[in-house]
Amino acid sequence: MEVLGIDIGGTGIKGAPVDTATGALLAPRYRIPTPQPSKPRAVAEVVAQVAQFFDWQGPIGCGFPAVVRGGVTFTAANVHKRWIGTHAADLFSEATGCPVRVVNDADAAGLAEMAFGVGKGRMGVVMIVTIGTGLGTSLFTDGHLLPNAELGHIIVAGGDAELWASDAARKRGKLSWTKWSRRLDDYLRRLEELIWPDLFIIGGGVSKKHEVFLPNLTVQAEVIPAQLLNEAGIVGAAIAGAVHQPGSAEIDA
Ligand code: BGC
Repeated sequence: MEVLGIDIGGTGIKGAPVDTATGALLAPRYRIPTPQPSKPRAVAEVVAQVAQFFDWQGPIGCGFPAVVRGGVTFTAANVHKRWIGTHAADLFSEATGCPVRVVNDADAAGLAEMAFGVGKGRMGVVMIVTIGTGLGTSLFTDGHLLPNAELGHIIVAGGDAELWASDAARKRGKLSWTKWSRRLDDYLRRLEELIWPDLFIIGGGVSKKHEVFLPNLTVQAEVIPAQLLNEAGIVGAAIAGAVHQPGSAEIDA
């Protein structure tokens, strides 16, 4: 099935049509900076611009950096607070004229890694940690997603883990990779104490630097970098958008 996948982030909104059977992008991705302030209507206009760019008239899947249940966004750590309680799926459907499904962005990235990346075929408990402006987590057991696991906000070192171990925190604190990787290790160790995953998959921009930080990690679980990098959010959003469309396979998002 062909679905337009859109990855909504704090700084950019990126989209591309995706073949959800193979995970391949059917055109190069198109990116527009996230409007500031990132209020619902302004973001919906940009989502519509992305759809117009591809002259899109089919199903759309969106990854959004918040808790999303039944199309409604419940939190807003790195976007405008007006998102709390907004029916994002309805808003984007009205703006684009297409059926839209909205899921948490880390869940979208996880769906993509589990379907087409390094998580493919991995049973047991797999946790994907996407590291960027925020700390996103998604949790799979025997390939089934437990949606909206907001484990980027657990308390580590006396505060919100995201403010301490995200890539934004690394940049803010001008931390060396070694120093930051110790923070990442503390964070993963805390997750391990709570969840005991069999495998951690590290995604987001920092995963390109895995040679630098992986040797500094001391968790017992296997840790591997994500494979789909920039594309995971778009591909996973499209996988989610394929659900409930005629001919699509059901997923657990
Ligand atoms: C949000 C999550 C999101 C993550 C990555 C966090 O601040 O609470 O919902 O998945 O950032 O964008």
